[in-house]
Amino acid sequence: MKKSLIAVSMSFALFNMSHVAQAAGDVNAGLAKSATCVSCHGQEGNSMMPMFPKLAGQNEGYLVKQMQAFKDGSRENSSMAAMVASLSDQDMRDIAVYYAAQAVTENDKPRLDVEEEDDEGNDLPASALKAAKEVAQEEQDALMAQGYDVYRNGDLDNEISACIACHGPYGEGNEPAAFPAVKGQHADYLIKTLTDFKTDARSNDSDNIMHMIAKKMSEQEIQAMSYYMSVM
Ligand code: HEC
Ligand code: HEC
Repeated sequence: MKKSLIAVSMSFALFNMSHVAQAAGDVNAGLAKSATCVSCHGQEGNSMMPMFPKLAGQNEGYLVKQMQAFKDGSRENSSMAAMVASLSDQDMRDIAVYYAAQAVTENDKPRLDVEEEDDEGNDLPASALKAAKEVAQEEQDALMAQGYDVYRNGDLDNEISACIACHGPYGEGNEPAAFPAVKGQHADYLIKTLTDFKTDARSNDSDNIMHMIAKKMSEQEIQAMSYYMSVM
């Protein structure tokens, strides 16, 4: 026990020393260097397109880690690999502190699609449309309630840890540990990335934490969690 504590404090000392040598990120430099990111990630990192993640309000350590992963190929994405190829470590820190200082925008409440036509392509009568909307609303409410529950309590039956432990009570993440914020993120991106963890398509998480968790989640559970987090 004592031995491992010493090892931990030693590595902390080394970690701190290695940080002293680097210049901290600069928000204004980050603003200038992020000009090429706006077309996909939006003004101030609030992307308008659901497949492009919002970067606003995300913590610095996590952002730097992901940029490095796209650069060294351990997180695979061809658009992102091209975007970070020429960034230095200092560029990444500047960009990361800039995005971390922005506020993430809120999303609209997600809505499940309602078919407005029958199989023959005719408009549904008003009463049938109303009933279909009510069913969709009930499904939506059930998904959100499930998301709320698993986020806070985990899913004991399937041995899924509570997300709150690492992603925080408000989805704000954990800055010192570089656990990402999830609140206000686009549901479609969250579904995609959780599915990528589940299938191993995304596997740059060194301790495999999210891979282990997502593997145990059903598609339906991934959907519920993603909808819930998108409006936290
Ligand atoms: C052509 C569109 C495009 C451009 C331009 C772009 N990105 Fe991305 N970015 C993406 C996509 C798509 C993803 C999600 C990749 C995935 O699904 O794994 C992403 C993901 C990211 C992530 C990971 C976010 C997370 O929550 O894990 C970071 C960080 C990031 N981009 C930073 C940048 C920076 C910095 C720039 C500018 C230098 C940039 N991106 C430019 C499309 C783009
Ligand atoms: C023990 C800590 C821990 C727990 C518990 C945990 N996560 Fe994570 N999560 C992480 C870490 C660490 C990452 C970043 C992985 C990486 O660096 O690629 C992450 C990443 C994510 C991402 C990707 C965010 C992005 O912007 O790309 C999502 C979504 C996510 N977690 C959802 C969940 C959900 C849903 C749960 C609960 C069912 C959960 N996490 C439980 C630690 C955790």
